[in-house]
Amino acid sequence: MLWKGLLQQYKEYLPVTESTPLLSLNEGHTPLIPLTHLSKEWGINLYAKYEGANPTGSFKDRGMVMAVAKAKEEGSRAIICASTGNTSAAAAAYGARACLRCIVVIPDGKIAQGKLAQAKMYGAEIFAIEGNFDEALQMVQKMSEEEDFTLVNSVNPYRLEGQKTAAFELVDALEGAPDILAIPVGNAGNISAYWKGFKEYDAVKSSGLPRIHGFQAAGAAPIVNGSVVKNPETIATAIRIGNPASWKLASSALEESGGVIDSVTDEEILEAYQMLASKEGVFAEPASCSTIAGLYKQHKQGVLPNGASVVAILTGNGLKDPDIALKTVKQEPIVIPNDFDLLRQQLKGCVV
Ligand code: F0G
Repeated sequence: MLWKGLLQQYKEYLPVTESTPLLSLNEGHTPLIPLTHLSKEWGINLYAKYEGANPTGSFKDRGMVMAVAKAKEEGSRAIICASTGNTSAAAAAYGARACLRCIVVIPDGKIAQGKLAQAKMYGAEIFAIEGNFDEALQMVQKMSEEEDFTLVNSVNPYRLEGQKTAAFELVDALEGAPDILAIPVGNAGNISAYWKGFKEYDAVKSSGLPRIHGFQAAGAAPIVNGSVVKNPETIATAIRIGNPASWKLASSALEESGGVIDSVTDEEILEAYQMLASKEGVFAEPASCSTIAGLYKQHKQGVLPNGASVVAILTGNGLKDPDIALKTVKQEPIVIPNDFDLLRQQLKGCVV
């Protein structure tokens, strides 16, 4: 059957009414990839939910399609958001599709190039502040109270409604909930959305509930530390957040699921980032790889039950941040003249 996007597919679980426009860029329905090498090494059944396959390259499309459709339904003419990059890309794309003005506020110099290119191309009006994401979020919240802009950050409840569909897809694919769900935590909307999705599906289908393992970057780990981080810093700019808006919801998800939250260092993130791409052929952006880094740490600590089914949410496409990729791998292309004999000289007799 032709996939028509989330609003059509999961209508009965979403706030879709007769008058909701069925906006779509064919988001959702993302690959669930078995990570065979890591599964073997770690003694678990590990899968990656590859959210980088969404139309703008991140999971944000799931929430944005719902939030923008509702904004349109309610007669809004402009949307606004703060972003570390992916939200702004998704807002700009769905805003363009729905003919809405789109304003994005980003931390200057702290968003990946691919994400900035997207916001520009989709025609958003971009403001880059000399401040961080938390400060940008405060600004757009205030702006949306003063003026008629619809706020499309994850404090907009429609965002979580859309994002919960990823949990439905997981349960449908695995014929039940996995034992463990590993997920990066930034503003804490996504972890809360998954938990909502698992609970709603379980209520209807008795599909079970996973334990949630959340991961923050060590330099931006307010939930792990139990206090706001004033100047968050991490190479994983997507989750460079010091005061998550959905902190309380995330804490409930962790507690109710019997889960844990931990932090991983930038070094651990970059190691996992390269390992995932070079061992499994899966290229996800650094923030996404906090899940693989976190699971690797937990494997070494011996806390992952043998044979457990584990899903790592890879929230964004690796191509979003080419700069980090090019810097991480030290080996440069070998430059040779345009001469076959020279290529042969380099490669002859050394296939393995
Ligand atoms: N992974 C990626 C690639 C992200 O872009 C984000 C958040 C997260 C994980 C964390 O998700 O905030 O729901 O806990 N990015 C937001 C943005 C903040 O502006 O694009 P969360």
